[in-house]
Amino acid sequence: MAGSDATATRGAATPTLVTSLVRLRPLERDDEATLRAILATPAVSRWWHPPGDDWPWDDETGTVRWAVELLAAANAGPAGAVVGLVQAYEGDDPDYDECGIDLFLAPSVHRRGLGRDIVTTVRDWLVDIRGHHLVTIDPSASNTAAIACYTACGFRPVGVLHGRERDTDRRGWHDTLLMQYCSWWYDGTE
Ligand SMILES: CC(C)(COP(=O)(O)OP(=O)(O)OC[C@H]1O[C@@H](n2cnc3c(N)ncnc32)[C@H](O)[C@@H]1OP(=O)(O)O)[C@@H](O)C(=O)NCCC(=O)NCCS
Repeated sequence: MAGSDATATRGAATPTLVTSLVRLRPLERDDEATLRAILATPAVSRWWHPPGDDWPWDDETGTVRWAVELLAAANAGPAGAVVGLVQAYEGDDPDYDECGIDLFLAPSVHRRGLGRDIVTTVRDWLVDIRGHHLVTIDPSASNTAAIACYTACGFRPVGVLHGRERDTDRRGWHDTLLMQYCSWWYDGTE
């Protein structure tokens, strides 16, 4: 069971991860306004709850957050532009393998392969560096773009959680789709 020793200490320092399309780096003060503007766009605010006053500096224990910075090769805007945020969460019970990923990208860069690139990179960091074998993700059951992206990254649907998430306008509740990536499916141990 390669990669199954989920004994890493919770709450990793935020490393910089570089792919062929983006640089994932720790947040800087100047990122806040950019990220809040992206969150306010209808294509993103539809799926992400409005941020609190202290976001993104609020300390969610076990969570690391990266700014998504474009590289020239992404061909999706000026190199160095911040176009989104990705975060990873790790639980702290050694008897349960619990970690997950969440992200949003500016509408101007959607459908250019960035989501797939970022999710696979953070997924591999959780598995290869942090020692998890199970990564979960739980988009709204009607978020077809997110579900397609996560499916393209090797996640499989596990089941629907009825009424799990409050609507972003907080008027009601909706279903989420629990999706799972298990490294054992792909590393030949299962
Ligand atoms: C979800 C999100 C991160 C996807 O990122 P993206 O960069 O647009 O996705 P990619 O271009 O990497 O696409 C990955 C796969 O998903 C598919 N996909 C992406 N958007 C899609 C859409 N709107 N409809 C159908 N398929 C879609 C792509 O075709 C691709 O599949 P393929 O490789 O088989 O062709 C992005 O749409 C986003 O930030 N949305 C708003 C916030 C949000 O919903 N976050 C997720 C909360 S759980």
